[in-house]
Amino acid sequence: MMDIKIRKASPLETKTNCLVIGVYEKGFSAPFLKELDQKLGGLLNQAQRSGEFTGKTDEKILFQPAGHLPAERVLLIGLGSKAESSLEKIRQAAGTAMQQVIEKKLGQAAFKLPLEFKEGAHAAHLQATAEGILLASYRYDRFLGEKAKKSRKLPKSVTLLIDKTGEKQACETALERAQKICRAVILARDLVNAPGNIKSPVYLVEQAQAATDASTLRCKVLGQKELAKEGCGALLAVAQGSVREPHLIVLEHSGGSKNEAPVALIGKGVTFDSGGISLKPGEKMDEMKMDMAGGAAVIGTMLAASLLELPINLVGIVPAVENMPSGTAYRPGDILTSLSGQTIEVLNTDAEGRLILADALTYVKRYEPKLVVDLATLTGACIIALGHQATAVLGNDQKLVQALLNAGEESGERLWQLPLWDDYDQLIKSDVADVKNTGGRAAGTITAAAFLKKFASDYRWAHLDIAGTAWRDQNQPYTPKGGTGVGVRLLVAFLEKLAEHGNSTTMG
Ligand code: BES
Ligand code: MN
Ligand code: ZN
Repeated sequence: MMDIKIRKASPLETKTNCLVIGVYEKGFSAPFLKELDQKLGGLLNQAQRSGEFTGKTDEKILFQPAGHLPAERVLLIGLGSKAESSLEKIRQAAGTAMQQVIEKKLGQAAFKLPLEFKEGAHAAHLQATAEGILLASYRYDRFLGEKAKKSRKLPKSVTLLIDKTGEKQACETALERAQKICRAVILARDLVNAPGNIKSPVYLVEQAQAATDASTLRCKVLGQKELAKEGCGALLAVAQGSVREPHLIVLEHSGGSKNEAPVALIGKGVTFDSGGISLKPGEKMDEMKMDMAGGAAVIGTMLAASLLELPINLVGIVPAVENMPSGTAYRPGDILTSLSGQTIEVLNTDAEGRLILADALTYVKRYEPKLVVDLATLTGACIIALGHQATAVLGNDQKLVQALLNAGEESGERLWQLPLWDDYDQLIKSDVADVKNTGGRAAGTITAAAFLKKFASDYRWAHLDIAGTAWRDQNQPYTPKGGTGVGVRLLVAFLEKLAEHGNSTTMG
């Protein structure tokens, strides 16, 4: 990861290749900007009058102060209206700026955004800035040649400038937090971006074990034999068409007291989803290497929890399988016996995520969790409903759902709730088994969750459908196209609140 340093210094006295300044819309009268405008010979005001740069979000303009400042260049980034400012806006502005610094191969930069911190918000703003910088710097370049890799030059270092009122120690801590969280997000992105030929269920096991070796996590793995012995009939059915052995990964973080019930996280880990015998169409099938993004979010979050030493007990479970068509594959019409004992009629082998989650949601009961959150790239219907802008959340406990919604606003990884009324249960009734694995075209995201609800009994539970948010096919300010690592920052925000408030305020 790129090196970031904090320095207490005035931007106008800082020697740097590129001074990055955040500017609010209508904020040009700030004393500092007036001084800057003077040094730039009025260029700043001119840009504002001509409408070239007015401080709106996503706007940027580069000046060369030609010796009037120690900085070689000044890059202004629009922060939008001050009244509507948020940490997410700062993250995005930092990302947009970083993209410019990289594109122009500037080698080094010093950031100062926003100019005026809210009272007591120094550390939070600094963390958001660092997150935007680190996450915008990410590229998946593992399979690029040396030449292609080198053509994209990251700066050697980036400095974050704080003014004299900024508490240095709190800012250092905030920077460290950003670095730990981003390391976990980047791990999740790397896992999602890895191609299906190298990314087998065993590969996910190895990566989970590597995260364990680099932290205080513990890791336990069940292979095919153990899963059969347990009776994970739904998970094993999905896996049986692939030559690659399925695994159930269990990660543990013990940051709480010994007898405190853990929070459980479960992530869908389909390393490639061809649809199986109900084969998907060829168009964009390559993207189905991302069908383990829920699992990646769980592995990433567990790593973050360990690095941040969250004072809470956690269990992370990733059922890892590959869904392939073959002579040994499961078929439409098959009736499976799940770990819970409930039988499932398979109407479509492409509705495989809910099958592996069913067994994981049952398996988790042995940990007597105080609450369970699952993440899954579960339904295409979720993309139709919410696009790529929001994750769907559904659950059996409104306080839990609300706490997740709040964490979504805070982290910028936003959620939107869909209903999970019993009315939907009739859509997944089967004539020959306890439940069927598809509910038809209507309300596809909800009927998938209604299916999971049958297995998520006996505990408070929420389901996150990340089908739209786990993968982007266009660059965003701090998220290059490909795997986004969605879920890690969301869950870290959620878990921190939970740890802070114990079981009271947020959880009821
Ligand atoms: N992994 C897919 C869902 C998906 C689609 C994720 C597009 C990301 C992008 C899931 O396994 C699936 O195939 N779901 C089916 C369910 C249907 C057969 C009931 C779907 O959404 O079409
Ligand atoms: Mn599928
Ligand atoms: Zn799938």
